[in-house]
This record gives sequence, C-alpha cells and structure tokens, in this order.
Amino acid sequence: MDKKALEALVRDMTTEEKVMQLVQIPGSEYEADAEITGIDRGQVKDSVKRLAGSTLGIWGSKRLRKIQEQYMKEHPHHIPLMFMLDVIHGHKTVLPCPLGQGAAFDPEAVKKGAEMQAREAAADGVHATFSPMADLCRDARWGRIMESTGEDKLLNSRMASAMVAGYQGEDLKDPEHIAACVKHFAAYGAAEGGRDYNNTELSEHTLREHYLRAYGEAIRKNPVMVMTSFNSINGIPATGNLFLMKKILREELGFTGVLISDWGAVGEMINHGYAEDQRDAALKAMMAGVDIDMCSGCYSGHLEALVNDGAVSMEMMDAAVLRVLNMKNDLGLFEDPYRGLDAESGPVITEENRCLAREAVAASLVLLENKENTLPLRKEKNAFIGPFADTKRLQSAWAFSGEDENTVSVWEAASEVYAPENRKVAAGCTMLDQDAVTARGICHIDRWQEENDKLLAEALRTAEWADTVVLCLGEDSTQSGEATSKASLQLPAVQMNLLREIHKTGKRIVTLIFTGRPLELKEVRELSDALMICWLPGTEGGHGVLDVLSGIVAPSGRLPVSFPYTVGQEPLHYDMYPTGRPKPVNGPFEYTSRYLDCENGALYPFGYGLSYTDFAYIDPRLSTQTMSIAETITASVTVRNTGDRKGDVTVQLYLRDVAGSRVRPVRELIDFQKITLDPGEEKEVRFAINEDMLRFWTAEEKWESEAGKFQVWICNSSCDGQALEFQLVK
Ligand code: GLC
Repeated sequence: MDKKALEALVRDMTTEEKVMQLVQIPGSEYEADAEITGIDRGQVKDSVKRLAGSTLGIWGSKRLRKIQEQYMKEHPHHIPLMFMLDVIHGHKTVLPCPLGQGAAFDPEAVKKGAEMQAREAAADGVHATFSPMADLCRDARWGRIMESTGEDKLLNSRMASAMVAGYQGEDLKDPEHIAACVKHFAAYGAAEGGRDYNNTELSEHTLREHYLRAYGEAIRKNPVMVMTSFNSINGIPATGNLFLMKKILREELGFTGVLISDWGAVGEMINHGYAEDQRDAALKAMMAGVDIDMCSGCYSGHLEALVNDGAVSMEMMDAAVLRVLNMKNDLGLFEDPYRGLDAESGPVITEENRCLAREAVAASLVLLENKENTLPLRKEKNAFIGPFADTKRLQSAWAFSGEDENTVSVWEAASEVYAPENRKVAAGCTMLDQDAVTARGICHIDRWQEENDKLLAEALRTAEWADTVVLCLGEDSTQSGEATSKASLQLPAVQMNLLREIHKTGKRIVTLIFTGRPLELKEVRELSDALMICWLPGTEGGHGVLDVLSGIVAPSGRLPVSFPYTVGQEPLHYDMYPTGRPKPVNGPFEYTSRYLDCENGALYPFGYGLSYTDFAYIDPRLSTQTMSIAETITASVTVRNTGDRKGDVTVQLYLRDVAGSRVRPVRELIDFQKITLDPGEEKEVRFAINEDMLRFWTAEEKWESEAGKFQVWICNSSCDGQALEFQLVK
C-alpha cells in the first residue's frame, strides 16, 4: 500500500479503531498456552480483542492463520493483526544465550544466528521479535545480564547492530525476515542494587558515553521498533520520559519507527508515583511518543476519552497510528496478511541450523584455567558428574519456543566421542539448594538430605573409577533472566559441596560452569585443574562443549563481562575511572582507593580467555605520535601463534584519554579483530584510530574530542599489554 493510501485509511478509521491499533493484548486472549511474559491483568473486553492491532506470545502457522482469518473478517477496515514474540536467542534451534554470543566477539556469526532465528520464527507466523536487548550491564546481581552481550558499549553496539541486520535483512517484505525491536530503552541494566525494575540514577555523561551507545548504533540499522524500559531514569519513568523519548530517541537518534512500551510499563507509572491513574498514565505515555501500549489496558481504557477531551490531539494520535500501519505495510501484511501462515507444520530443526548452533556454542566457551594442559581431555576414563552432566535444560528461560527434547546434553555428546568403557555419568547433587527450589514452590524432594547423600555417594564411586572428572556445575536457567536478581553470586551449596568432595579424591577436575551471569569462582578455581564457562548453550550445547573438551575445536571465547572475586565488588566493570588515589600495583596501599578485604579488579577480567595454544604480541606500534583531528593513526601489532595447535585470537584495541574536561576511564575498548593462526603462523593486525573514536561528552556538554595525550593498548584482555602514546593536536 502506498503512503497516500495509508493516510487515506487513517482518515477513514473511527477513533476507536485508531486507538486499538495502539493496543497490544496478551496471546492468551487467543490461545490458552500463550507465553505470558508479564503480569497478566486478566481478560480484555471483546470490543478490545476485536480491534487490538497486535498480540504477543503465540506462534504456529495453522493456529495464527485461524486467528488472522477471524480477525480480518471482523475488522471494519480489514487491517491485519500483527504477531510478535521474544525470539532472543532462538526459536526452534536455540543458540547460546546472548551473553554467550557476546563472548565469541564475532558480530558476523551473531548476524548469521539472527538470520536463522528469523527464518524459523517467520515460518511459524511471527512478524516481529523483541530483540536485540542492547542494555549495558555492569552488575552481575541483575539476572537479565544473561540477555545482554555484557558490560562494554562497543561490543554491545556491534552485537546489537548485527542482530538487527540479521533479523530484518534488506527487505522486510522477505518472508524469511522479521521486524527487530531494540530494547529496553534506556539504561535498564543500571538498576540500583542490581535489583530488577529498580530506579536508575545516571549522570548525563555516563548515560551518553556508556548506556546509550549500543541503542544508538543499533538504531542506525533502522529497527522497526524500540521498546521502553521499566525503570525510571533520574526520577522519571522511561515510558513517560520526554528527555529520553523525544530529545534523545526521536531528535538526536532520529528514530522514526514504532515505540512500544514494555509489558504493563504504561500502567506501572502509577506504581512509580509518576501518574495519578490509568488515564494520566495513558496521557503521559502518549506525550512521550509511546505508539503501542503493551498489555497495560491504559490506552484501550482511556485514550479515546483523552482524544475526545482534546487532551491528546487527533493529529498526535493519527501520527502514532500511521507509524503502526507503516510497520505492517513494510512487512507486506496489507498485501499478504497470511505471510508465514501457509505451512501445515512448524519449522523443523535442520542439520544446517544445528551446525550453525554447534559452532556458536564452541565459539562462546571461555577457558579460564588449564593447569598443566589438562585440556583437551585425554581418551581415558572420563567421568561426567554434576547436575549439568546429563540434562537437556541447557537453554535460557527466554527460549520458551525451543523444546528441551531437541537439546543435546553433555552426556549424550560425550557418548558419541568416548567408548562406553571410558565414560561414566553421575548427577552428584540436585541442581539447586532446597531453599531455592522451595522458593519456586516446586520442592518435590521430601527427603532432601537423603537424596543428596545418595547422589554424592554414587558420584564419589564414579570419581574413584575415573582418571579425570568433568564436573558440570552452574546456575539453573530459572536463576537468570527477568525478575531473577540475586544478592549472592555463589554456586548452590550442594554443588560446592560436591566439588569439595570430588577434590578430596585427588582426581583431575575439569569444571564446566553453565550460567547466565558472572559467578564467584575463586574456590572453584583453586579446586579445579581446568575451568571453562559454558553459559546457557542451547540446543547444540553438548556437542559444542565436547568439540572443545575433546580438542576438535580450540576454545576462543573472551569474557564479555567481568567475573568478580565477590559480589561485594558489584557493579564491576573494567572501564572504571582512575580516582584521585588509584591503588598502585605494588603498594603502598594506605589511603588509596581499595578494599581492605578484596582486590579492586576482577578475578577474571573483561576480554580474558585462554586457548589451547599461545599467542605472542610482537612490536605493537603506532604509525605516528601526533594526530590532528583530520588524520588517522594506524595501530599495529604482529601476532604469532607460538604453540603447536591452530587457534583463534581476539586482538583488542584499548584507548585512554589521559586528561580531559571530565575524568576518563582507565581504558576503553575501541576496536577488536578475531583472527585464526596456524601453529607458528604470524599476522600483522592493523587498526585505524580516527578522531571520532576519541570523542566523549565534555564538560561543555558537547560530543567532542579534546587535544592532549592518549594511551593505546593492543592486547589480549582489558588487563594486559604495553601502553603506547600519541598526542591529539588541534
Ligand atoms: C517482558 C520483558 C521484555 C519482553 C516483553 C514481551 O516483560 O521485559 O524484555 O520483550 O515483556 O515479552
């Protein structure tokens, strides 16, 4: 439909029809088994259901076709209903959770993964996904860190941009692509205390320099939608925040697409104490430019009256309706309301998709310790022990459209690699401590201690038989994601007890940690001969893990987020400010910025990860020591594989602005390149540094660079390398 026809359509619609295009209702209004991802406020009125412009949480071409047929028949202008779903790391073929995908430092792979997700979801009738989540996360207590790609603005920018490009492709009318939605705008990851939905207090320069960057880069890829976040920012809820939604999003970032609220967020401005009632909340959201109210009932209940009373102009409403109709038009829904609804059955998991997922798993794994080259595993007696050894629950809580039965467990994959006489498995303990399971109200284990004693005894017998124990521990998928903030980052006590008891046997221990967030691993490090982070790896989890354990693939993942010594350090991030009393490397420490009882830095820092080979960084250099704003400096280094195995290495480029009109981080990632080197091979890696990369939010509140000294590191993590220097002259 062309623009004029759309505008004519808007003119012809009744006010009620226009309001309802701005209303999204839960999928449970159509299908009982719909995924409810918010606080369900109960049945909507039939008059709302008949005209609501979109729904979420349902998929499946046959049943969506039936819903669409009924809806189109009843709608006075036959405007198609839109189906939206959270496809954040997989629909049928589930990839590693986004934090794991971040660890691969491979935007191209993430784009391919998003393309695959879009193909599968579109084949199930889905028109739009609520992804990428571009929230910067510096606090491991916040369970939604699992859905992010971590603590760094550059890494998040590249990953979020890659996801938008992968989901949407070049043409939204292509039935193998779906609309993307950049969320949660904005700074949702800065929740005070790491407690979900909590307020965020951010200076404008921190907001602009760190938290807004990835949304901005992703918005340059023209996502169809942006979603408001639940939190308030500096006292004003995002969903009604004019500075955020008008000045930043619409004016500065130039976003012209559809702004959708998060589930219930419009109405929650009442709880925040920012809106008097639902009518006031609807008004405040409309004034902020929220086009679609997801499931709060405020727009459906009060927007027509607000327009009739003149509190909201018909012009403002029409503009919002036109943005929604443009979205449907860009997807080709007017020409083909039944796109993706023809298949007799849903998408099948193809071998090609499994292969892509398997490679993504292997690339996401981060090897943190490998004492005396314990890994790759020897072909001898290997015991796979722990609650993650033989479970198919390897996907996150947000991968609800994927089925566990399609997942390959660690044990299943091990059974394909090791002969029966060389492998054994034992659960060793329950996944969670009793209080955690009871808190979820599903404690079916009456004789809790007895159960764990039995599991432990069997595990110790299995360990006695083995040469090496592969201990598969971690955080259950219900312990990260939405509304799962935790004040402790420790593994469950039952799992730590299992590790300690296995350690007493004196066997070699390879500890695998399956988790959606950083955990406290100091004791795990001490008791393990090898330690690897496996995140929540999804459908091909077992295969990807065994490909690395067995040595078929060398580990290449790097931490996208800092792992602390203790939760007391949170929020923890590598790009911190130096303070006036930085703690010196070798002391004296009195009267410096430090903890009496803990290191300042991370147990394992951002960007860190081992391989099965070693790499030397030779002769890092800059092409010049002075740079004008029009010039570019080339930073280069020769990287050599000094080991006897092929390996991938992520070469990282960090910068420090030594003195500015505002204090500047001790270092910031400004570029990275992942390369593959054969044994003995070396390659020169070159980076271009231009003036744009030196800009920040100055004391004059301008996005500019400032003349002066800069330091540069070309290295292997946020904590190593030698500093090179140059001057920016203006
Ligand atoms: C949830 C989440 C958001 C998700 C939305 C729709 O509350 O905050 O990330 O996309 O609802 O499911």
